[in-house]
Amino acid sequence: MQKMKAGIVGTGGISHYHLRGFLRAGVEVIAVADPALDRARGFAENYRVKNVYASHQEMLRVHPDLDMVSVATPNKFHAPIATDCLNAGVHVFCEKPPALNATEVAQMKEAAERNKRLLLFDFNNRARPEAQAIMSYIRNGQVGTINSAQAIWIRRCGIPGFGGWFTQKALSGGGPVIDLLHMIDLALYFMNFPAPAYVLAATFRDFASDKRFKGPWGLPDMEKAVVDVETAAHGFVTFQTGQVLFIRNSWAELNRREEVSVTFQGTLAGGMVRRLFGRDGLDETAIDECELYTMEHGLPVNKMILVTPDVAMGRETALINFVEAVQGKTEPLSTPEQALVLMKIIDAIYLSAEKKEPVSID
Ligand SMILES: NC(=O)c1ccc[n+]([C@@H]2O[C@H](COP(=O)([O-])OP(=O)(O)OC[C@H]3O[C@@H](n4cnc5c(N)ncnc54)[C@H](O)[C@@H]3O)[C@@H](O)[C@H]2O)c1
Repeated sequence: MQKMKAGIVGTGGISHYHLRGFLRAGVEVIAVADPALDRARGFAENYRVKNVYASHQEMLRVHPDLDMVSVATPNKFHAPIATDCLNAGVHVFCEKPPALNATEVAQMKEAAERNKRLLLFDFNNRARPEAQAIMSYIRNGQVGTINSAQAIWIRRCGIPGFGGWFTQKALSGGGPVIDLLHMIDLALYFMNFPAPAYVLAATFRDFASDKRFKGPWGLPDMEKAVVDVETAAHGFVTFQTGQVLFIRNSWAELNRREEVSVTFQGTLAGGMVRRLFGRDGLDETAIDECELYTMEHGLPVNKMILVTPDVAMGRETALINFVEAVQGKTEPLSTPEQALVLMKIIDAIYLSAEKKEPVSID
């Protein structure tokens, strides 16, 4: 059988996971597109991809036989590139955040529906073995209704470079709220995506120009760096169902260490998935945990679920899920509707922080 064909738009840090995910799923990557042609050529040479283009438009024009495209560019370009690809009739796997705001996500969703093509976003933390282990208990009814959850991605020194696209609101849409949205998404996934009602949040900009707060990775610093995004945020979301969600996200804040976690309290069981880093961003020292808290035989019981950790943090398996969903072999791990709810909450966090009052979500 002929292999399906994919293209990758953007050949920076995350694109390597896309490439490896496509290969593991048995898809041939026939082209890449990136205006940084030297980087794109190096990427293509490394992975033996035959065709390199300076733009996604050119790639789509030359290769009408593409089945799917992944988008791995700075956030500002997600919506226009994904929409062009959907309009060209290809299925799209797009990096997180889905776009700069909910209006853009609604337009992308409409383009996917109109063209009858799949649009999946890279919520790779859903694909992590720890998250799927918890989901198997939730699906089985062993957690009950999740009344309350806490979504946390906090760093101490984790600004991803000074002045690159991550720290410029026009290119990124915001700081850690939008960049580290994974745990908010994971909590919503565990809670079965209830309809949000109100959001109350505050953002902070401390340490935004202090280079001691840069992470051990990220983009090189630029001359005359623009850093006009938040460095920390705290928020609270209520849902029409009565459920509630507490949020903490930061790149730079005086926390003990980097923590990535969702904890939740259900009517039958509580639980958590957590990654604790030894130091900000240093994966090899990280500890992954996954637990449930129940009552059994009248006794409080803590269950430690043992899974084989995924060093790629679900980034390749999320892409494999996309390919298998395109092939009709499995259900997609996320839907554009869920991405829209998530982005409405993120828009509301920024609006509430700006207005200094609670805001409602339709
Ligand atoms: N899921 C995850 O765990 C994860 C991790 C890191 C980054 N990301 C997301 O991936 C995306 C890319 O991040 P990154 O760290 O790889 O960034 P990066 O800066 O390393 O790479 C981005 C690449 O996109 C290219 N580019 C810019 N404009 C383009 C355009 N119009 N068309 C094609 N290419 C273009 C740049 O030249 C660059 O090579 C972001 O949306 C980011 O939020 C996700």
